[in-house]
Amino acid sequence: MYKILAKEELVPNIHLIDVEAHAVAEKAQAGQFVIITVDEKGERIPLTVADWDREKGFITIVFMEVGTTTQRLALLNAGDSLFSLVGPLGIPTHVEKFGTVVCVGGCYGIAAMMPIARAMKEAGNKVISVIEARSKYLLFWEEELKRVSDQLFVTVGDGSHAAERWIPDQVKQIVDSGGKIDLVVAFGCTFMMKLTSETTKPLGIKTVVHLSSIMVDGTGMCGCCRVSVGGETRFACVDGPEFDGHEVDWDVLLSRQRGYQDEEIQSLQEWESRQWSRT
Ligand SMILES: Cc1cc2nc3c(=O)[nH]c(=O)nc-3n(C[C@H](O)[C@H](O)[C@H](O)COP(=O)(O)OP(=O)(O)OC[C@H]3O[C@@H](n4cnc5c(N)ncnc54)[C@H](O)[C@@H]3O)c2cc1C
Ligand code: FES
Repeated sequence: MYKILAKEELVPNIHLIDVEAHAVAEKAQAGQFVIITVDEKGERIPLTVADWDREKGFITIVFMEVGTTTQRLALLNAGDSLFSLVGPLGIPTHVEKFGTVVCVGGCYGIAAMMPIARAMKEAGNKVISVIEARSKYLLFWEEELKRVSDQLFVTVGDGSHAAERWIPDQVKQIVDSGGKIDLVVAFGCTFMMKLTSETTKPLGIKTVVHLSSIMVDGTGMCGCCRVSVGGETRFACVDGPEFDGHEVDWDVLLSRQRGYQDEEIQSLQEWESRQWSRT
């Protein structure tokens, strides 16, 4: 069992939990993830390690409520425990001195991007972070990202705070205003990463993306997280999750992500109706 030491709702539907996991905290690196189960009957879901404290032996996870398991997770509080937690999994983000690195993140990707921006900065890069949300009230960790970035751009879809634009427009704007970008790293929803890659490809800017394909075992055995990159089949859990965004077959990824949508909706409806009947 893995004890939840702290829990906080960062913004509506996005929660932070600190989980006691000494062995994982000791080894975690930027870009890696864990697979958790909430309780003994629960499904396995992958969540990125958004931070860690090696001395105190805990990791930080930031997750968004999207379906049954993340809703169940959101009901746990400090003092409760996760049934299982496996990790750190996946190949860490490739970090070296590239020059100017633009780190872009949306939704839970804002938090997942934090250790990557920090590692890129420590490696001597100029780090420009760009975060996006639909509206101002869904933004979080601006101060945390400012601390590890040379510059931070905030974009919101409804113009309620800062620029009324999305991440790909902001990346293009940096280039249009004379900025030289050596690498873009993207974390967040698949559609944002696809559009960002489509924006940077004609500009010749290397772009790495963190793919969130559906995972089960996380060890390369089940084949569930299969993606097509550069015409080759790769397993996101062991060959990634970081890949060249210009080589990813986005249509295959998007259609595989929707593969269990009917079952997910049914599961959520059953879970919600059980919750209602208890109140
Ligand atoms: C490497 C990796 C890291 C991730 N990191 C985070 C994170 O830090 N924070 C966060 O909020 N989310 C993260 N996700 C996505 C998260 O795993 C899904 O949102 C979660 O599994 C949804 O489960 P659910 O039962 O709540 O929703 P469901 O209703 O079951 O599913 C909603 C959608 O989530 C996706 N999904 C469902 N099951 C899985 C699964 N087993 N593996 C991957 N995707 C799934 C599908 O696209 C599905 O349509 C990550 C995914 C991957 C692959
Ligand atoms: S999750 Fe099973 S092979 Fe990647």
